[in-house]
Amino acid sequence: MNSLVLGIDIGASGIKGAIVNVHSGDMHTERFKIPTPKPSTPEKVAAEIVEMKEHFDWKGPIGCGFPALVKHGVAKTASNIDKSWINTNVETLFSQAAQTDVYVLNDADAAGMAEMSLVDIDKEGTVLFLTIGSGIGSALFTDGSLVPNTELGHLKFKGGVAEQYAADSVRKNLKLTWEEWAKRFDEYMCHLDLLFSPDRIILGGGSSKYFADFSQWFTVKTTVVPATLLNNAGIIGAACYAGTKHQSKL
Ligand code: BGC
Repeated sequence: MNSLVLGIDIGASGIKGAIVNVHSGDMHTERFKIPTPKPSTPEKVAAEIVEMKEHFDWKGPIGCGFPALVKHGVAKTASNIDKSWINTNVETLFSQAAQTDVYVLNDADAAGMAEMSLVDIDKEGTVLFLTIGSGIGSALFTDGSLVPNTELGHLKFKGGVAEQYAADSVRKNLKLTWEEWAKRFDEYMCHLDLLFSPDRIILGGGSSKYFADFSQWFTVKTTVVPATLLNNAGIIGAACYAGTKHQSKL
């Protein structure tokens, strides 16, 4: 099989893509970013997937991380994207638009899988991977195996939903200092710690690069580390997922 796959990470503010070598996990090209259309309706986002494909002059399979609960290719929620995505078969829509096989999974699951499979870290026990961005994404692993679509950013917390209390968009909207935001995120991690007793928490997503600015306020007793692949994990994980799925389909 050709080891190159186009990986795409759809986020609330940007759609990022690169061609990835799915055997080594390395990016084969520079990253290309398109602003997420507003409103982010299925038709408009599908048109950007086509633009991404054309930018890379790509004809092979595509892997796509999507910011919602995705079951067998179908979006089941839509918190940070247009509500019309609910019950849309994202795989069929993108495959038809791009005229190639597109494989879709939750964005945090994609990023977490990349981090777990490509970075030399201890995978034993329960590992909780969280993405910090417009929402909070989660990928839960037990001995290296993913429990997909955990959506822990949507846990009931503090009388509302966790990501509406502790996502990075909340820090930006309320103009919180790193300390104020980190204390909120720490409360959320303490709650997760109580529920899952993870052996390790890994923080990924756009804002994990500021780990040094906020981690000093964490009190949660589980070890918390920043992700190594940072913002490219979603692209790489989506490409690797598609590579495996495409191979088993042939
Ligand atoms: C969505 C998740 C997604 C996360 C990060 C949440 O609002 O429900 O599916 O993983 O945002 O994008």
